[in-house]
Amino acid sequence: MRKQDVIATILSEQLFADPAKNRGEAFASANIALCKYWGKRDTELNLPVTSSLSISLGEKGARTTIELNENQDILTVNGENMAMNSAFGQRIKVYLDLFRHSNLFFKVDIKLNIPFAAGLASSACGFASLVLALNDLFGWKLAESKLSILARLGSGSACRSISPGFIEWHAGTRLDGMDSYSEKLTTRWTELCVGLVMVNRQAKPISSSEAMKRTVATSALYSAWPTKVVRDMVLIKQAVEQQDFIQLGETAESNALNMHAMMLSAWPPILYALPETILAMQKIWKLREEGVTVYFTQDAGPNLKLLFLNQELPMLVEHFPSIEIVRPFVY
Ligand code: PMV
Repeated sequence: MRKQDVIATILSEQLFADPAKNRGEAFASANIALCKYWGKRDTELNLPVTSSLSISLGEKGARTTIELNENQDILTVNGENMAMNSAFGQRIKVYLDLFRHSNLFFKVDIKLNIPFAAGLASSACGFASLVLALNDLFGWKLAESKLSILARLGSGSACRSISPGFIEWHAGTRLDGMDSYSEKLTTRWTELCVGLVMVNRQAKPISSSEAMKRTVATSALYSAWPTKVVRDMVLIKQAVEQQDFIQLGETAESNALNMHAMMLSAWPPILYALPETILAMQKIWKLREEGVTVYFTQDAGPNLKLLFLNQELPMLVEHFPSIEIVRPFVY
């Protein structure tokens, strides 16, 4: 079953209907995985090898508006026109093609308050907000699980940005991926903080899709990953439920380091860290030795996301003066 069949199953007679109004608008928070998604079992439908679990980044994310346009598609990102034949423009166009009949064109405006393509989940919140804006424009009124499947077709981790909070993405086993959707955990953890330590705001040198493909194909360590994830998912869900911060932090940091170790063992090797990333890691390990309860996670980029509770905030601002603080449940 391919993308168009999945969409037809979800939208049935609503597919290719005319929009319910002239303009759709939506916001989606970025999300940071505490247990990572790394490896696809189906590259076209973005079906993952394993489940994953994330926390959303509150007001950090993407706001998308979509309107009908005459004759051609237009895309603006952060107020700047982006050519439809650029890499991101192409991804958006191909995605929009799945939902429209031939005479429909769109004007899409995406505003991000996080750096674009720098390993800060910009494509995740970009595609999630686009799906939510399409849902608004066409008046589909779809359930969140269905919206998460549509978002996954644009970018895997986008399925975890449909709603805020702690989100589990079930890997599923079906070939059509109808059981590969995201679901919200009920816990709200108001003391939880995420600190963004920006090492570099530039776009990443290798896309996450490409890096995943290479890791799965060439890393001798990849075969151990699914077992590690099964264990980490249990530990993280338990930590969230019991608000056990040390278990959460230790599992999330170890999960991220395992993912990067697999990339380093791929061929050609993939290293997203810069020297400043390593220095920041060493600083965090030293702070931990001195009694500060802080952990980190890292995605497909050199920037670190620190995990800590509100009481450690003054200490972290002292040691990382340019840290950007996000409180996922207080904004
Ligand atoms: O969904 P993608 O293709 O942007 O890949 C996301 C990969 C990581 O951010 C590194 C891990 C994750 O689970 O978000």
